[in-house]
Amino acid sequence: MKSVHVPLAFVLFALASSLASAYDPSPLQDFCVAINDPTLGIFVNGKFCKDPNHATPDDFFFTGLNIPRDTNNQVGSNVTLLNVDQIPGLNTIGISLARIDYAPNGGENPPHTHPRASEILFVQEGTLYVGFVTSNPNNTLFSKILYPGDVFVFPIGMIHFQVNIAKTAAVAFAGLSSQNPGVITIANAVFGSTPPINPYALARAFQLDVDVVEDLQARFGTKD
Ligand SMILES: *[C@@H]1O[C@H](CO)[C@@H](O)[C@H](O)[C@H]1NC(C)=O
Ligand SMILES: *[C@@H]1O[C@H](CO)[C@@H](O)[C@H](O)[C@H]1NC(C)=O
Repeated sequence: MKSVHVPLAFVLFALASSLASAYDPSPLQDFCVAINDPTLGIFVNGKFCKDPNHATPDDFFFTGLNIPRDTNNQVGSNVTLLNVDQIPGLNTIGISLARIDYAPNGGENPPHTHPRASEILFVQEGTLYVGFVTSNPNNTLFSKILYPGDVFVFPIGMIHFQVNIAKTAAVAFAGLSSQNPGVITIANAVFGSTPPINPYALARAFQLDVDVVEDLQARFGTKD
């Protein structure tokens, strides 16, 4: 009998682990508010699927990622993200790709986070100071200077950035582990929200004078 129990226990364990999931399937949108009447609802977590008989090669195709983008803006960078909106064939697959152009002398992809994706970045041209910061309480900065051919990883959810420290333009490509990674740019979210966060709340949080906060809100609050 004993010889039966061991494999049975093993089978049960294997079955249990195959059913176990570390967490719910990743949402592909910022939120999904529950309602009781489905007629008032919309489809979530991805898009509807095209009948596979009607799929074409162009559903899996994009051209022009070789073209340098205009970096003449406040931060001196330009992100071209190819997610499921640009390449419909990415639906349900869980990947996307970005090209990032950086202006010379400090062009920056400012501190931001992807709520739904980790990122692996490849430097094609230029010299980038990059980093991400771990969660509380350590807030450890993991940073590197990257040169052409270098690759760096930004784990999901971590605040991260890239700065071009060379005198010439830089370009990098990044793979992301979601068809819709999402981007939260820290400064824009905190100081540029619509409507604005009460400046006294931000002054306390950032240990700044209220007038400094109001100045920051004026710079980032383009929408109100
Ligand atoms: C990025 O580059 C494209 C093409 O060069 C341009 O149309 C777009 O306005 C640029 N975006 C930013 C934020 O500068
Ligand atoms: C974070 O800091 C704590 C306390 O200093 C330390 O025990 C822990 O190992 C650190 N964790 C990581 C992931 O660095």
